[in-house]
Amino acid sequence: MTEKALSGVRILDMTHVQSGPTCTQLLAWFGADVIKVERPHVGDATRSQLRDIPDVDSLYFTMLNHNKRSITLNTKDTKGKEIFTRLLEECDVMVENFAPGALDRMGFSWERIHEINPRLVYASVKGFGPGPYQDCKVYENVSQCAGGAASTTGFEDGPPTVTGAQIGDSGTGLHLALGIVTALFQREKSGQGQRVECAMQDGVLNLCRVKLRDQQRLQRGPLKEYPQYPNGTFGESVPRAGNASGGGQPGWAVKCAPGGIDDYLYVIIQPQVWAAWMKTIGHEELIDDPEWATPEARLPKLDQCFSMIEEWTQTKNKYEAMDILNAQNIPCGPIVSMKELAEEPSLRATGTIVEVAHPTRGPYLTVGNPIKLSDSPSDIKRSPLLGEHTDEILREVLGFTDSEIQAARDQGAVGSEQLLGEMEHPKLSPQGGA
Ligand SMILES: CC(C)(COP(=O)(O)OP(=O)(O)OC[C@H]1O[C@@H](n2cnc3c(N)ncnc32)[C@H](O)[C@@H]1OP(=O)(O)O)[C@@H](O)C(=O)NCCC(=O)NCCS
Repeated sequence: MTEKALSGVRILDMTHVQSGPTCTQLLAWFGADVIKVERPHVGDATRSQLRDIPDVDSLYFTMLNHNKRSITLNTKDTKGKEIFTRLLEECDVMVENFAPGALDRMGFSWERIHEINPRLVYASVKGFGPGPYQDCKVYENVSQCAGGAASTTGFEDGPPTVTGAQIGDSGTGLHLALGIVTALFQREKSGQGQRVECAMQDGVLNLCRVKLRDQQRLQRGPLKEYPQYPNGTFGESVPRAGNASGGGQPGWAVKCAPGGIDDYLYVIIQPQVWAAWMKTIGHEELIDDPEWATPEARLPKLDQCFSMIEEWTQTKNKYEAMDILNAQNIPCGPIVSMKELAEEPSLRATGTIVEVAHPTRGPYLTVGNPIKLSDSPSDIKRSPLLGEHTDEILREVLGFTDSEIQAARDQGAVGSEQLLGEMEHPKLSPQGGA
């Protein structure tokens, strides 16, 4: 089997909920040995959040923690701190997304961690960077609001709207993963670890870069591609633009047959495909009409343009319309529901949607690694049960003897979930499930 890109990299994963786990899951898919540290008998809060089956790890947890090992360790206990210190010595990276100050309160400031292992890369997610809000706890939607996504999403006459894409949590996790591999790359030359910090507000703002672009364009005049032009008014800030295209070309979501809730096609009108558009929808007379033929002429009547297009798309389903338009190089995309995505064979074939076996919940679907490396393909392995690898990690990584493990357990420094788990699930596969 090909060696994975990050094989040999060991990551101490102190993350929980979504932002941090997204990051360490990606690194695990690239082959890093990710050791997830969880509180004894409690674990990551998402194990029990939004549960669909009583008493088993939720999809929230399982879908964010593939390919990791789990150790339960009380990092506030004296013996637990000793074990944690030894793990820091043995790892290349430590990742955490606790509330501000939590790690310092445990006695592990960046300075202390750097002293314990100067080669270690220490990566963290916080809601805000240094400034007035640095001590706040932050969740997904808070960061979408703080980073400019909510004020620029939704329709002109509606309230600020958050997006379904988890740009605050998963988006920041992605940013953090890039920071970590970059710091590891620099370590190859410097021999030194460094601190990697990503604030969720910054990550969201980075993804809203085009809206800051528009904020500055607004100082010089109206944003002509926005639906507010030319009949509405612009205020001092970038307004919500509905489904208007964020790029330089006008775009909108138009209705298709049979008129269901997701029967829409997103269409774009580029100048180079104007003639093809008009031919397709039966309006050849507008191809060279000076009132319609140029982008400038069309701008004040984009709503009429999209209405004409919609008259045609409503006679087709979104996939039929897409086939006809794609054949003419007209950019468009169907609004695809989660049900359709879950059932899409081509996504199964590429490993973007994967069915995973799990010993207590049975099979479930997950999103596989969206980043495909030709020499480091990702095998998606189920998430660990709470504390499933406690003994294995103490033995293999730290060289503990059986009696040392027992002593740590007796003291409450590590949990006893694995023993309970063995009674309930005697033949757990270390890889793909039961
Ligand atoms: C997500 C968030 C709001 C959750 O807050 P929370 O539920 O209060 O959880 P915390 O991160 O504060 O941790 C709770 C406590 O558990 C403790 N804890 C965690 N793991 C532990 C372990 N293995 N052993 C002992 N104690 C542990 C922490 O030290 C902390 O204790 P303290 O408050 O006494 O210092 C917060 O962690 C946060 O703002 N994180 C940064 C931003 C972020 O990632 N948000 C997105 C989440 S998807």
